[in-house]
Amino acid sequence: MKDLEILLKNSGALPSLPMVYHHIQRVVNDPDANMESIVEIIGEDPSLTVRLLRLANSSFYGFPQQINSLSESVRLIGLKQVRDLCFGTVLIPLFPKNKVDPHFLDHFWRHNIACGIAARSLAQFRNQKNIEQYFIMGLVHDIGKITIAMNLPDLFETILKEVIASGRAMDEVERQHLGYDHTEVGALILNEWKMPQKLIDIVRGHHNFKKIQSGPIELSVVHVANLLVHAMGIGSSGEDIPPPFEESAWTQLGLDVEILPKLCEEIDRQFLEVERIFIEP
Ligand SMILES: [Fe+2]
Ligand SMILES: [Fe+2]
Repeated sequence: MKDLEILLKNSGALPSLPMVYHHIQRVVNDPDANMESIVEIIGEDPSLTVRLLRLANSSFYGFPQQINSLSESVRLIGLKQVRDLCFGTVLIPLFPKNKVDPHFLDHFWRHNIACGIAARSLAQFRNQKNIEQYFIMGLVHDIGKITIAMNLPDLFETILKEVIASGRAMDEVERQHLGYDHTEVGALILNEWKMPQKLIDIVRGHHNFKKIQSGPIELSVVHVANLLVHAMGIGSSGEDIPPPFEESAWTQLGLDVEILPKLCEEIDRQFLEVERIFIEP
């Protein structure tokens, strides 16, 4: 693990979060935070503004009325939720197409965006609060893979081929070749970015059966969401067959299997719109 830490820092390949996100985070963490400050910061970034407005007017929210201004979106969505969505929108451009196979990158983000939507929808079905944090958990869950791909492209290629040929779980093959897997790499990046400990723990634990059995509900949500989008065939994270499934994750959610058709319909519907909002330049 140390080797990777050194490699990432020395190669300068660990992307930094843009200043606009740091500004937003600082304002939201301020107990005297007000809506106007956030609107002002976001308003200075045209790309962020457009994406937030498009999200506010998409099936992601399904607000009955048209949202025409940034301040209206922030008021309706909420400060912390807007911060989380901003993190989502600044994240994807940090991994440029010229550094990773663009075909893999496209499928990778489709998988991760869909996982975010699935996690958020599962949380919504469970009446959880602040469902945007679930979107972010799904969106970043496999971020370690893209980091390995950017830093060790040849080895990553070998891992991908071996996963497809053997049908073995990707984290297992990664550990065999590298001594660590994408969950640890993802946790390392999020730690460098000083993201919340909970998010780091979810990313680190999303394939760990023991942690899922005894861990927080968010871990089960992301584990189920990941399997669900694999089963639905949205995008790809490098595997042909879904990774191993810990059934207690589904039991922990306490949801009826009868919700599944409606849930999948919801994920499909939102994915078509949300993918474009996040991925289009
Ligand atoms: Fe994963
Ligand atoms: Fe995944």
